[in-house]
Amino acid sequence: MADYFRDDCLQGKVVFVSGGSSGINLGIAQQFAAKGARLMLFSRTEDKLRAAAQTITETGGTALWAAGDVRDWEAVRAALARCHVELGPLDVVLSGAAGNFLAPVTGLSSNGFKTVIDIDLLGTYNVLKHSYEYLQRPGASLISITAPQAVMPMAEQAHAGAAKAGINMLTKVLAREWGPEGVRVNAISPGFIADTEGTARLVDTAEKSVALLKSIPLGRLGEKNEIADMALFLCSDNARYVTGSIFDCDGGYVLGTA
Ligand code: HXC
Ligand code: NAP
Repeated sequence: MADYFRDDCLQGKVVFVSGGSSGINLGIAQQFAAKGARLMLFSRTEDKLRAAAQTITETGGTALWAAGDVRDWEAVRAALARCHVELGPLDVVLSGAAGNFLAPVTGLSSNGFKTVIDIDLLGTYNVLKHSYEYLQRPGASLISITAPQAVMPMAEQAHAGAAKAGINMLTKVLAREWGPEGVRVNAISPGFIADTEGTARLVDTAEKSVALLKSIPLGRLGEKNEIADMALFLCSDNARYVTGSIFDCDGGYVLGTA
């Protein structure tokens, strides 16, 4: 049995990461590469992708990249097909591309709402559905990145909350549909993670920052490597009986303060 604490536990494994050019997803990609995985990073901006892949290759890892939008069905298909040709059957797919901003519903156009639903939820659907053709079966592990807004009503987050709630249900339905083939489907719900675009966009004043820290039982923001540790566990054999689950990795934030 592979042990997720071992340095070479992902040796030879192929991993596709949507939204892998920055933040939490890049943190996961870097940790996976350090454990021996070969990766393909997929997101929109070429310069970010090139720089992200370089952080992996300069430490001896393998990281290809493909530029495209998760909302673009054909672009996602082409990237996954290329990943299969150049790296082989997929062991792990991480769906983490997302967009977000603070906006009350009164300040949110139909297109603003749709944009976040399309990037987060439809994008995850596109990535997971296209992955299916190329999965290592049995044994493949699919991990989506959701957020506390999915289960915790948060003002100015109707768009993100609805999108992430959809990802939670998609995770559970796919776990049912693909479980019989030995494919596991789970999601991670990070709390507020330090030095990320998501936290910067949502915690945009000193007052919010103070209030936020008071509302996290462990009393601090999370670190990218703490989400990577959770992802590593989920794609390892140690999690071989785990599917259809949403894992909070948030210092207890989702418990609320009542
Ligand atoms: C209201 C807004 C808005 C804002 C954009 N829109 N920003 N509405 N308030 N602040 C509206 C626009 O007016 C437009 O509607 C529609 O959204 C689409 O905007 P575009 O700029 O054309 O969209 P696009 O170029 O596709 O960019 C998507 C984006 C952008 C989400 C708006 O910010 C982006 O690319 N973000 C990626 C990076 C990111 O957000 N990372 C953080 C992820 S954190 P109209 O009607 O004018 O056409 C996260 C969760 C954090 O997901 C959880 C923490 C706990
Ligand atoms: P980030 O650095 O902005 O990461 C978002 C990634 O998605 C980038 O690589 C971005 O690159 C890519 N992306 C955005 N829109 C895309 C599109 N339409 N098509 C393809 N790729 C796209 O943000 P982050 O804060 O680390 O968030 C990463 C994930 O964690 C997201 O799923 C987010 O919802 C989740 N999350 C974050 C927090 C937090 O504290 N930060 C908390 C809970 C959940 P391009 O812009 O170049 O495409």
